Amino acid sequence: MTTDTDKLHQAYQAKNPKETSEVYDDWAAEYEQHMKNVGFTHPAMVASMAARHVQPTEARVLDAGAGTGILGEILPALGYPNIVGLDASAGMLEIANSRNNYQELTQQYLGEPLTFDNNEFTLVASSGVFTQGHAPLDGLDELIRITKPGGHLVFSIARTYLEGLFNEKRKQLEQQNKWRFVDASQRYNSTPLDDTLIAQVFVFEVV
Ligand SMILES: C[S@@+](CC[C@H](N)C(=O)[O-])C[C@H]1O[C@@H](n2cnc3c(N)ncnc32)[C@H](O)[C@@H]1O
Repeated sequence: MTTDTDKLHQAYQAKNPKETSEVYDDWAAEYEQHMKNVGFTHPAMVASMAARHVQPTEARVLDAGAGTGILGEILPALGYPNIVGLDASAGMLEIANSRNNYQELTQQYLGEPLTFDNNEFTLVASSGVFTQGHAPLDGLDELIRITKPGGHLVFSIARTYLEGLFNEKRKQLEQQNKWRFVDASQRYNSTPLDDTLIAQVFVFEVV
C-alpha cells in the first residue's frame, strides 16, 4: 500500500542532492495533493513566524527550497510581493513557475555556492527543506551571506537536525558572530493527519 508521505520518506534516505531532486521530480505533479491530504503545516508555520518578525515590505525575499510554490501563494498575500525562489528540483520549479507568483525562479542547490549577491535579501524563508536527505545545514552559510545585516532567516528544522545537529551548527554561527537568535516556535507536527514528523521553526537575524 502506498501512502501520501512515501516519497517524503524516500527523500529522507537520499545520499546526495541529485538523488533528492530525482525523488521530487518524480513526485512534483502529486506533491501538493499528498501534502494537503496529510495536513502539511510547514508553510503556515514559516509564514507566521516571518510575519511576526518582518514588517511587510517591497524588499527582495527568497523562498529557499520553494518546491511547487506554496510560500509563493502565502507571502505575497501577507505583504511580501517581491519574492524569488530557488529549488533543486526542475519538476517542482516548473509547477511553481506556472503559478506566476515569483519574480524569478532558479534551479540551485543549498549546500553549494548560490548565484545571488552578498546582502541581497531582507528575508529568507525556507519551509520543509532543512531536514535529513534534503538541504545540508552548511547551506545556511550561503543564506547568511546573501541576507542583509539586520535581515532575517526563518526556516523549519526537522528529524536528525532537530535531534542535535542543528544545535551544533547554530552555536558555531553564533560564535562566529554571523547571526543572532531571535525566536523559535514550539515544536509541531508537520504532517498531523498522517504520521508524526516533529519540526520547529527558527528565526535568526543576520549580523
Ligand atoms: C518538502 S519539500 C518543501 C517545498 C516547499 N518549501 C513547501 O513548503 O511545500 C522540500 C523541497 O526542498 C527541495 N530541496 C531538497 N534539497 C535541496 C537542496 N539541497 N537545495 C535546494 N532545494 C532542495 C526539494 O526539491 C523540495 O522541493
